[in-house]
Amino acid sequence: MVKEIVISRPDDWHLHLRDGDLLPITVNETAKSFARAIIMPNLVPPVTKLTHVKNYKQRIIKALKPNMSFEPLMTLYMTEETNPKEIEEGFTKGLISAVKLYPAGATTNSGSGVRNFEKIQPNLEMMAKVGCPLCIHGEVTDNSIDIFDREKVFIDTILEKIRTKNPTLKVILEHITTEDAVEYVSSANENLAATITTHHLAINRNDLLAGGIKPHFYCLPVVKRESHRLALVKAATSGSPKFFLGTDSAPHLDDDKESACGCAGCFTATNTLEILAHIFEEQKSLNKLELFISINGANFYGKKVNMEKIKLIKNDTPTLFPKKLATPRGKLTIFKPNFETYWEVKSE
Ligand code: NCD
Ligand code: ZN
Repeated sequence: MVKEIVISRPDDWHLHLRDGDLLPITVNETAKSFARAIIMPNLVPPVTKLTHVKNYKQRIIKALKPNMSFEPLMTLYMTEETNPKEIEEGFTKGLISAVKLYPAGATTNSGSGVRNFEKIQPNLEMMAKVGCPLCIHGEVTDNSIDIFDREKVFIDTILEKIRTKNPTLKVILEHITTEDAVEYVSSANENLAATITTHHLAINRNDLLAGGIKPHFYCLPVVKRESHRLALVKAATSGSPKFFLGTDSAPHLDDDKESACGCAGCFTATNTLEILAHIFEEQKSLNKLELFISINGANFYGKKVNMEKIKLIKNDTPTLFPKKLATPRGKLTIFKPNFETYWEVKSE
């Protein structure tokens, strides 16, 4: 039985750090495990200008503890008013690593996102020209579409059009949740990849809803039925270069989660690697873990794989994590699936 693996230090290709007094917690929780992360721009107000990007990056770096190393890879929030020149400048100067597209109203702080996809075509053309990847929250927002179908309808009615019009644009379909998305991404050309989150690999909609609603399992896109989770696990453990980790770790304080209208998001930064090692081992695919968390994403983004290594050790007893972290504004619950993990991370 494998008790220990050594792999390149991983990256997180989809992360919410928030801002202000939460940053010293969120940044350092991620930096314990990850070398780099794609930082989501859905702040209030959103990160829609390069000046915002620069200032936010500085605040993130300032929040990092002195002995930690972590590189935030910044993104620009696309609105219908975004100017292609801003994208060109940001990407060619290395200020941004991607542009984020939220359909307006799809998720937390997406109100300034896109309603009319025709309006962003000049931006997409510029991105294809300079090689800037597009990160997409792939759900339609039409209230007549059932929430469990919103990803598939987005793929069929919007994503396919965007990709047909912009065949050389690099697209990341983020936090995929369905077998339909796995199939669509698998059969597309090399310009389309997908991130998969920790929680979508670990829980299904029964975990969320059966026996009482579990607000800490509520995220967007919402978790789907077990057959979809199994398709995601198969994709993640396949080693295919099209699938890589984007935790979508999205902290919301307990008061905001445990509420009559609870916020969407699971905070997985603290124990993602331990959970993933457990899932990959169960699938007898520990040898594919490094591809999923440390290699495929870097390759898709055209970045070097990290030189530094980490070691994962398997213990005989379950790994212990705090249930909650204390923040200046209240408690923050750490995501805990309905199974124990036995893996522990050590820096090499
Ligand atoms: C994210 C958040 O809270 O910012 N929430 C979530 O459920 N994933 C936004 C997002 O990525 O959809
Ligand atoms: Zn997210």
